[in-house]
Amino acid sequence: QRQRSRSSCVRRASRLIFASAAPAESHTLDAQVAVVLGTQWGDEGKGKLVDILAQQYDIVARAQGGANAGHTIYDSEGKKYALHLVPSGILSKSAQCVVGNGVVVHLPTLFEEIETLEEQGVSTERLIISERAHLLFDLHKEIDGLREEELAGKKIGTTKRGIGPAYASKAYRNGIRVGDLRDMETFEVKLRNLALDGQQRFEGFQYDVEADVEQYKEIAKRVLPLVGDTVELINDAWDEGKRILVEGANATMLDLDFGTYPFVTSSNPSIGGVASGLGLAPTKFQAIIGVAKAYTTRVGAGPYPTEVFGDLAEDLRRIGVEYGTTTGRPRRVGWLDIPALRYATRINGLTHINLTKLDVLSELETIKLGVGYKVDGKSITSVPSEIATLEKVEMEYEDIPGWQTDISKVRRWDDLPKNAKDYIARIQELIGVKIEWIGVGPGRDAIVIQP
Ligand code: GTP
Repeated sequence: QRQRSRSSCVRRASRLIFASAAPAESHTLDAQVAVVLGTQWGDEGKGKLVDILAQQYDIVARAQGGANAGHTIYDSEGKKYALHLVPSGILSKSAQCVVGNGVVVHLPTLFEEIETLEEQGVSTERLIISERAHLLFDLHKEIDGLREEELAGKKIGTTKRGIGPAYASKAYRNGIRVGDLRDMETFEVKLRNLALDGQQRFEGFQYDVEADVEQYKEIAKRVLPLVGDTVELINDAWDEGKRILVEGANATMLDLDFGTYPFVTSSNPSIGGVASGLGLAPTKFQAIIGVAKAYTTRVGAGPYPTEVFGDLAEDLRRIGVEYGTTTGRPRRVGWLDIPALRYATRINGLTHINLTKLDVLSELETIKLGVGYKVDGKSITSVPSEIATLEKVEMEYEDIPGWQTDISKVRRWDDLPKNAKDYIARIQELIGVKIEWIGVGPGRDAIVIQP
């Protein structure tokens, strides 16, 4: 039964794509609304696929997270762009870029990003920010640092960008929204109250609220022309038949509900966060694309069943350049974790997979594929919700022979070595969703499509 439903899922996914031997950029994804999501612990390389697909979409939207996400994109000429809050669609000539209501926005960082893009010759006029999005202030960053200190030995390992505290303000209902900048008098009162709250709660809280009040008077003038009702905009666009691409940030294993809680981010990077973060109904999602690295990485603390150490870890980190874009921190590295990927596939209802960074495994004689979890000697099929259980999981591995050939110049499926195809086929078989795109290098063109 399961086998049958998996293969029908594979068939359904392939119908959405017109497969041919043409380069990835000329492929058309036949879905009015497509969503790109991270399936592991982030940094899977979502930016590249979003950048390729953005050329075919009218709107590119971010639904959750903040500047803790960091897409790195190389264009066809090898020029590098680092994006944190601005949707990757900004690099396409015409896509309108939406920062949705579910995002938390630190406006000074957003303006720095806009300035850098403008200096690189990218026009940012097509950017629109939801009036319902919550503002992230320097005080949230301060609280992030103070909370990590309080946790002492039990640190979450956040990026200290204030994302968690900004979402906490939203949930506490004393958060301030982008639209509040339209009435500066009320805004000032709200900001002072928020600062007072931080001061009362945290010893050593340092934040110059008056300086920020002044700063935000200028920021308000600058940002308001970019602010609008994005719920209306996106739904009107859908009614008009326009094509919408949603750019996920972070990933399912970091999801506030489904990830390895509490070592997670403070939003829902899985599919539910797309609906709530944009006001776009799930019935409209036609393609839900999961991005998975051919191995795994994770930043910060938390259980990691397939983690590797020593020389192998060093090699993967060096070849895969596994250092945080935003923080520069070395990432933890490990083998591909099939139970976790299957879990992400189910939660998100994935229709396609983009397997990235396959080139990073090219030197290995043998690749290990983590196919099952065992707890206290018993095989389990689910991802345990308790950290203590997940920490003692023993991984069952399959050995897959490596291809030991450079694949970074390969652009056609037929030119991939047999062992690389076998690795892809085995993952696909275990997951039940077609691996449509295979990343073989950082460049926009370094992608292979499986016919
Ligand atoms: P978050 O949103 O922060 O989770 O990151 P992300 O998933 O958007 O990752 P990003 O797009 O920044 O990609 C991480 C790095 O991987 C970037 O430097 C990319 O250029 C690089 N990259 C993407 N795909 C490939 C690939 O197939 N091979 C190699 N070698 N590098 C790749």
